[in-house]
Amino acid sequence: MCFRLFDLDPDLLPLFQYNCKKFSTPEECLSSPEFLEHIRKVMSVIDAAVSHLENLHSLAEYLANLGKKHQAVGVKLESFSTVGESLLYMLEKCHGPAFNMNVREAWTKLYSTVVKAMSCGWDI
Ligand code: HEM
Repeated sequence: MCFRLFDLDPDLLPLFQYNCKKFSTPEECLSSPEFLEHIRKVMSVIDAAVSHLENLHSLAEYLANLGKKHQAVGVKLESFSTVGESLLYMLEKCHGPAFNMNVREAWTKLYSTVVKAMSCGWDI
């Protein structure tokens, strides 16, 4: 998923910095414990969205705040689409033919709902 992320947009690399330390290569970033922890954080948000499918609005405030935090670290809204593309790429690689059009559509819908809720925290 994350090799894909930096293939799609190498400019995202400097946004992942911990204790002001920037990574000089995607490989260095991908092998750092902090970055792996961030992947876990992303997946835990996706997991929460799946568990709250019937009442996603209960996550609205949390997601808007999460959006705000990402704007503060310099993330652009359009970069969330790049993360979405990497997520779909990874799911397709893992599930093979089982990842059919319907499943792709369901994941796309879920992820865009999460991003839409995060974008509510964006100050324009
Ligand atoms: C925190 C970067 C996308 C979920 C952070 C942090 C950074 C960051 C620098 C603070 C340090 C850390 O906790 O690792 C980015 C970048 C993204 C991105 C550059 C996209 C290009 C996402 C997405 C999600 C997400 C799509 C979830 C759907 C989180 C969570 C935290 C976090 C849950 C912890 C927030 C907290 O501590 O309260 N992100 N992120 N991130 N990110 Fe992201």
